[in-house]
Amino acid sequence: MNDFKPGLEGIVAVETEIAEPDREGGVLRYRGIDITELVGQYPYENVWGLLVDNDLHVTMPEPEPYEPVGLTGNAPADLQAETARLAGKWRLGKLNEISDEQAREDLGRLSSQMMGIVARSARIADGETDEVPADVVARGKTAAEKFLLQWRGEADPKAVRAIDTYWICTAEHGLNASTFTARVVASTGADCGAALSSAVGALSGPLHGGAPAYVKPMLEEVSASGDPEGWVKQTLDSGKRIMGFGHRIYRAEDPRSRILKETARELGSPQIEIAERLEQAALEELERRHPERPLKTNVEYYSALVLDVAQIPPPLAPAMFACSRVAGWSAHILEQKRTGRLFRPSARYIGPAPHSLQPVS
Ligand code: COA
Repeated sequence: MNDFKPGLEGIVAVETEIAEPDREGGVLRYRGIDITELVGQYPYENVWGLLVDNDLHVTMPEPEPYEPVGLTGNAPADLQAETARLAGKWRLGKLNEISDEQAREDLGRLSSQMMGIVARSARIADGETDEVPADVVARGKTAAEKFLLQWRGEADPKAVRAIDTYWICTAEHGLNASTFTARVVASTGADCGAALSSAVGALSGPLHGGAPAYVKPMLEEVSASGDPEGWVKQTLDSGKRIMGFGHRIYRAEDPRSRILKETARELGSPQIEIAERLEQAALEELERRHPERPLKTNVEYYSALVLDVAQIPPPLAPAMFACSRVAGWSAHILEQKRTGRLFRPSARYIGPAPHSLQPVS
């Protein structure tokens, strides 16, 4: 019997009440609500409440005072390390030994703190050595505004809208690699800090959360070439992938890509024109080469433009993604705790047949 599926494609590993992308319809719903209804109506912190508590009127808590140590300015690495460190500092309990209420509290504390860690790390990357005073940060009305204040000491309204929209669009997406990681770690009974920091590591790769970092330089290259069609052919001929296209689940257009494209246009992204030209050239060529597998624009493509409006440097993209995905991860960690079972899949051994040690000559 050959039931092996590389990458577990199509394997149902959990049942969830949180969200699962609609493969054919190109719709994404959080706890049954279409995300297009959320963007612009509720800020990200309420969407956090919707995902974690199934209540749009609950918000992610305010962060408590905390001094991270040894931030390097490499935000994904800082976030992973500090999140794990917080578990020790706050003496978080193991998931299999604490109540659901305690786990929910731990996840709330960690989520809001994680945003602050990214903001501070980004400030260090900018070469700033001082902290923005707490009363300045407290003036922010939303999590996105506070994030920008903590990072830059100011918050341009366009940048606030860009980040809030991006965070809502990327807050949750079913059993992707980082969420699966968070659930696997949670299933062992580890603490919430361990589960979240492991998820940050899984998110940092370009095949998952890191793609926007490659999109902006790609658009600059295409713009300089002046020939999107030729660039696409050359890239595919050399065996490379076009960043921001293709998805393991969606066979229709990614609904998040639609929202982000509109936002990029409304916010006056200077790269929207070249992005649309490249998108058209890429979609046509990918369809020609892969008629059997629709390869459409994914969330990362227009995310890159929206993040650029907020002047987010490309290397910060995975950490920005992590800030939003803490909502989905937290919801899944709680669901795993309530309903799950230790993950322990099997591997089929295909190595050498049994044989004795060779005599040493
Ligand atoms: N550019 C060019 N070709 C692509 C492609 C892309 N962006 N995405 C998939 N393909 C091709 C693959 O080369 C493969 O072709 P082959 O069968 O001739 O080898 C085929 O489509 C299937 O690819 P596969 O890797 O099996 O799909 P997947 O479901 O595992 O991959 C992604 C999903 C997202 C990892 C993949 O589409 C990708 O690498 N995209 C670019 C990175 C990206 O945008 N990441 C952000 C994801 S939200």
